[in-house]
Amino acid sequence: MNNPPLIITIDGPAGVGKTTIARQLAGNLGIAYLDTGSMFRAVGWMLAQGNLVHDQDTIMKFLADIRFDLEGRGWDSFITLNKQKLGLEIRTEEVGMWASNVGKLEIVRNFLKKAQQIIGASTSLVAEGRDMGSVVFPDARYKFFLDASPGVRAARRQSQLAGMGNQTDYGTILDQIIKRDEQDRNRPIAPLKPAPDAIIIDTSFISPDAVFNEIRKYLID
Ligand code: DC
Repeated sequence: MNNPPLIITIDGPAGVGKTTIARQLAGNLGIAYLDTGSMFRAVGWMLAQGNLVHDQDTIMKFLADIRFDLEGRGWDSFITLNKQKLGLEIRTEEVGMWASNVGKLEIVRNFLKKAQQIIGASTSLVAEGRDMGSVVFPDARYKFFLDASPGVRAARRQSQLAGMGNQTDYGTILDQIIKRDEQDRNRPIAPLKPAPDAIIIDTSFISPDAVFNEIRKYLID
């Protein structure tokens, strides 16, 4: 009998460094990396582009026509939407807020949860998001929740965006991050919070390498 896929979840607020760690871990273990934020970003971006009226029926029809797949392995894993690779246009803070807005909708959460669970049913992966350990993969073998102060996270996000060629103002990013986290933490469905059995790591004062080493210590080969 084949072993079930290995699922490792990494949740936490915006700008905490989840992506760096999740990709590094996936590369190190030779398994896939599932960026669930990109799925919410893609849905938020597409709904905003089409200026669709956001009633349940319209969103349901919109969701019926889209399909997410996970391609590649390790560091190079990526999500496709209807077989198209997602571009940098979804990586702005504005689209992050649109993603958070659609993330409040039950219909969108149920659709993406199912898509994520289908991917995880056949593929070993490191799943990054807000509700991976608490809702989508409650039986994951290892669950981590990264946290850091809002100021540290805003500085990290600012340099991440600068790396993509987006120059931004620190104060604006800080405000956006605080607002987005508040919305993600307080939504009634699948709010941002550690699963009861998650290992919580404060990354405020430690380097990404130190976070990676800390996580790696918990994983039994
Ligand atoms: O991780 P990110 O910044 O790309 O996520 C963008 C937004 O998408 C986040 O603020 C809330 C939403 N999201 C979510 O509700 N659940 C997830 N598992 C991942 C993201």
